[in-house]
This record gives sequence, C-alpha cells and structure tokens, in this order.
Amino acid sequence: MIPDKVPKEDVFLGSGDWRKDAHVPSFEAYKELYLKSIEHPDEFWGDVAKDFFWKSKHTGRVLDYNFDVTKGEIFIKCMEGASTNICYNVLDHNVHHRKLGDKVAFYWEGNEPGDQLTVTYRDLLLRVCRFANVLKAQGVKKGDRVSIYMPMVVELVVAMLACVRIGAVHSIVFAGFSAESLCERILDSQCSLLITADGFYRGDKLINLKLIADDALQKCRDKGFPLQRCIMLKHLSKEVDQDQTPMGSQSPPAKRPCPDLQVPWNPDVDLCWHSLVDGASDECEPVWCDSEDPLFILYTSGSTGKPKGVLHTLSGYMLYTATTFKLVFDYQPADVYWCTADIGWITGHSYITYGPLANGATSVLFEGLPTYPDVSRMWEIVDKYQVSKFYTAPTAIRLLMKYGAEPVHKFKRDSLKVLGTVGEPINPEAWQWYYTVVGEKRCPIVDTFWQTETGGHVMTPLPAATPMKPGSATFPFFGVVPAILNESGEELEGPSEGYLVFKQPWPGVMRTLYGNHQRFETTYFKKFPGYYVTGDGCRRDEDGYYWITGRIDDMLNVSGHLLSTAEVESALVEHEAVVEAAVVGRPHPVKGESLYCFVTLCDGIKYNRTLEAQLKQQVREKIGAIATPDYIQNAPGLPKTRSGKIMRRVLRKIAHGERDLGDVSTLADSSVIEQLFQSRCCTAE
Ligand code: WT7
Repeated sequence: MIPDKVPKEDVFLGSGDWRKDAHVPSFEAYKELYLKSIEHPDEFWGDVAKDFFWKSKHTGRVLDYNFDVTKGEIFIKCMEGASTNICYNVLDHNVHHRKLGDKVAFYWEGNEPGDQLTVTYRDLLLRVCRFANVLKAQGVKKGDRVSIYMPMVVELVVAMLACVRIGAVHSIVFAGFSAESLCERILDSQCSLLITADGFYRGDKLINLKLIADDALQKCRDKGFPLQRCIMLKHLSKEVDQDQTPMGSQSPPAKRPCPDLQVPWNPDVDLCWHSLVDGASDECEPVWCDSEDPLFILYTSGSTGKPKGVLHTLSGYMLYTATTFKLVFDYQPADVYWCTADIGWITGHSYITYGPLANGATSVLFEGLPTYPDVSRMWEIVDKYQVSKFYTAPTAIRLLMKYGAEPVHKFKRDSLKVLGTVGEPINPEAWQWYYTVVGEKRCPIVDTFWQTETGGHVMTPLPAATPMKPGSATFPFFGVVPAILNESGEELEGPSEGYLVFKQPWPGVMRTLYGNHQRFETTYFKKFPGYYVTGDGCRRDEDGYYWITGRIDDMLNVSGHLLSTAEVESALVEHEAVVEAAVVGRPHPVKGESLYCFVTLCDGIKYNRTLEAQLKQQVREKIGAIATPDYIQNAPGLPKTRSGKIMRRVLRKIAHGERDLGDVSTLADSSVIEQLFQSRCCTAE
C-alpha cells in the first residue's frame, strides 16, 4: 500500500541538520515502522505504553475491537483493565520522574502585546492540584461532566487537567459559540458545573463571556435543567493581575486593560475562581481510572443538525496524541512549539494540551488574533519565543498571504524547523507561500489530515521522512489503514478517487457518541460495513499519495470548522418570516467555504435589508459568529425533485454562478432555476 519508491520530481523535502537526528529519519524507516504498526499493533503500541506511568497493568489486549456492524456492536478498547491518570502522566510524571519541574510548559501570550506569563511544569501541577481540590469541594466526582467555556488562558488548561485528575469528564465549548449552542451542549451531556470567565478581548473587540454564559444557564433552566454552580475566572479585572503570576514565575505581572465590565452575579449559582482557589490545598491525589473510562466529550457538527458529542477515552487517546505529537512534529526537548488553534476545538485538545504536555514540551499559548495589532503578530511571536515547530490552519495562511511577504520579513524566522497545517485541504498556492515565504524553503510542511473523531493525525507526512507534494496529506500515520471505496463499497486499487475510509482502529479513535451509541454506529459504520467512514472524499495518485478532496456529506468547512447545512437551515426557518431554507457552500478565498443561504419567505412577506440582517443575526444567536451567512438569497421557489427533495447540487451551482447544471431531469419545476440565476447574490457584504 505504501509505495516502494517515492517520486523524485515535483516533490519537496526541506533541509536542515536536524533531519539526520529525527525520530523517523527516512522514508525507509517510516515504511518499516509502519508495517510493524499494522501487522503487530499490540507490540507497537505496547512499546509506546512503556513511556507512561501505569498504576496497574492492563488485563485485556493492547488493542481490541469490532469494526464490523454485521458482526455485532462496534467497540474499540485499548489497554483495558490498566489503571492510570492522564493528568498524572502529563504533570506529576514529568515533574517528579523526568525532572522537568523547572521546564516551561507554557509561554502565555495575551491578546495585547506585552501581556504575558510563563508557567513551568511545577507551577502547572500546583495550580491543577488546587483547582482539582476546588472541584472536589464542589462535589464533582469521577464520571461527572463539567462544561468549560473559557478564553485561551492558562486557567483553561488548568480546568481541563483538574477535571481529568479527579476522573471528571470535560466538555469544552469554544468561546465563540452562542448561548443557545452552549445550552444545547450542557443539556446533552447533563453537566453538573460550568466554568467560565468574565470576558476577554479578541483583537479590539470585548467579549462579555459571563453574560453569554448566564443566558445559556437561563435557557437550561427554562428547559428544566437548573445547573447549580458556575465558577467564574476574573480574567479582565485588574485585581487579578498579582495573584495570576504563579510562584516561581519570572514574568512581570500582566498589564491588561480594565474594561467597564458588567458582570451580573447570582449568589445562588456563581462562585469566584480566585476565592475558591485561595483556600485550596496544593496536594491532590489523582483518581486512578480505567483505560476505557471516558476522558472528555467534544461536540462536532452532525449532518442531521444536532451536534454529536464525540467521546474519547483515557489510555488510547493519551498514547495516540503523545505519539503523533512526537513524530509528526519531530519533537525534540529544546523545541518551542506553537499551535495557533483554540483549545475549544480538537486541535487544541490534542496538540496544545495533551500531546505536547505528555512529551514535556514547551509551548506558546496565544490568546490573540493573527491580525492584531497588525498582520506581523504571528511572526513577532515566532521570533520572540524562538518557535521551532509551528502549526496553523490554511485559512490563517490565506488571510496573511493577502498582505504579502513584507509583514513576514519584518521578523527573523530562522528558529523555525517544521511547519504544520490542519483543518481543510490546503490549496497549492497557499502551500507554496507558507513553504517559501514563511519557511524560506527550509522547513517541511506537515499537512495533517484528521478529525475530532480520530483524536489525532491519521494521514500526514513525517517531516524528515516523507517527500511532500503541495496539497497532499501524503500517507497514513502508524496504525492507520486507509482505503478508498467506490459507491458500491468496493475497495479501489492504484490511482483512484472515492470515499476515504479506515479499515482498523488506532488507539486515538473515538469510542462512541455520548449517550447515543446507535448514532455512532449509523454515522460512521453503517454505510460500508467493516470500515470507519470519514465523510471525506479522497484521491490516490499514481505515486500512491493521498489527496483529501473535501466533505462528501452535508457538511461545510468554514475556516477549518465544520458546520452542517441542516444546523444553519434550522436556525433560519426558526425565523417567523421563513418557510423553507437551503444552505450550500460557496468557495471563499480566505475561509475556504462560505455560507450561501436560499430562503423561501411566507406569503406576503417582502425581502429587504432589515430582514436579511435579522436572519444573519438569528444564525449568529443560534450557533455562533463562525456560522454567520455571507450571502442570503430570496428564493420564491427552490429546485426540488418530484418527491420533494431539495437539489442542493443544483443550488451549489447557482451559488457558484455555474450555468452547467448537469442532469436536471428529476427536477419538478425547471422555471425556478432561471429565477434563481436572475437574483443571485454576486458579492458578499
Ligand atoms: C474535517 C474534520 C482535525 C482538526 C480540525 C478539524 C477537514 C482536517 C484536513 C487536511 C484536508 C482536512 C476534513 C475533516 N480536514 N484536516 N489536512 N486536509 N481536510 O476538525 O472539525 O473534526 O473537521 O476537517 O474534512 O473531515 P473537525
């Protein structure tokens, strides 16, 4: 499956002395290890497990599974029967056993330049123990779900590690989501506590997070779920600055603007992070959990509109994120690593918190935006902390590309060794810019394909081993066996295009959808029995390289974030003026895709700017700012089949302005097409 030889032309390698000492130094080495990983997975992952602390050994197989719905329930188990704790492994084990207590875990860089904090592994352990004791005192027990709705601050990492230290399950909700979305997620996982912050700045925009959280809690109450406790971190208030500097930290107290925040306080529910932590003990014995105990839930969009609570479990996720981090970024102890994602997404879970900390790495944790205060910010930070491994998204690259090379050249980037991308297919033009302008043709680019569901990278180059082709995620990571299927479920050989599936599990794959194992089986395993279906299309070229071609279900990828068309449609039809809505993606130069919405209005209602603004606002309120439609078109009629199914394929063409509609013989009323072309939206707001 992996080619014997890789092509010599049209490929890129990067350069640098570090390559010869890389963990996987050649394509030959990759192939050899890869074969071992798929032929003897128990041995391969068993070896990886030796680097971790186990309170007691596993009793089951290293990897045990059923991937075939026709043979019974789908399950995946890794190191079952072993007891361990991921917080212990990423903190105590590093501090006490590997003597990394004084090593910097995070350089926190705030939204405002100059607002910074340095946190060592010892500091982090101390803060986590204190906060874990706070959670215990609030009655949080093993297995309880805790919702976390916070900006990118060190306390977010503290909160998540404190949860897993006591065996509680965190459910982090990205701080850009709306009150409605937060409420829905709290209800679905029946969380017993919410952790949030007063507010934060995104660039020069103040986000009053507590107000949104309060709104969400009110919505929960209205739906019969009165959540009793909400812990609020004061992130923006001045008084916090002193006690935010942890012991042993060298950095000066942070200077933050002190806004006139209106923080409503409900003494029956609200608790102050700082007062709780003040009296808490510095020691907290971890709760030893089984390998297959739940670790966290993270919601991702589903094609029916209702978000799916992806559940990851302890040991498999730990082994997989640690190994992918180490090998895909070729992590070395002197590295300074920076992943620009938000912890509210899976990239932040796996490659800001768990993967890097499991390796004892030093990371940058960035609260701000790539364009604030100006478009050099990223490169300024790279230079300031001498970042050697840098991981970002194609949408950020495309955004910065627009400003040319000059803002990049303002700062030296000679510390950089490996660049990474994630979130969506990277177009070759953006790839070339990243490679040439940012990496000066020295740094290999790891184009990592993966999903919330896969826990970690599944298709990716290894920086010193895999010759790169711009835009290809190249080959599978260890333990991953991809295949390309046609519509009838037959495996295609050689150069081909079809559905990307995986034939066997790897330790980091999700275990279920929280509270809905049936939906888990239906979504990922029913279409092609015996395979995990990614939902992405894929092409394999004549050299055996894999190219992800994008989603082939009703999902859209906006700035690297998945949205379901159904979710946006249901937000639109909730408006009283709308009877029907259909949403498709339209290519966007920075976001990858943008939302193009067709709405059919109730009889007698006139379409105008005010209504358009209301509809956009409605989607923001229901889902969040990332789902704000770029285009809304009044559609008195929608193209439908005779059985009444909306033909989204045709709508996509209309949104793109493409006249060649393909086969429209099943269309019930073809006159709507011309009408829609006539009133197309040509430019975004
Ligand atoms: C979907 C998963 C994994 C963290 C970020 C998104 C798309 C992701 C790539 C890539 C082509 C990619 C896929 C995938 N995707 N990385 N390197 N090349 N497509 O996590 O929200 O679960 O989205 O993102 O379509 O299925 P997610």
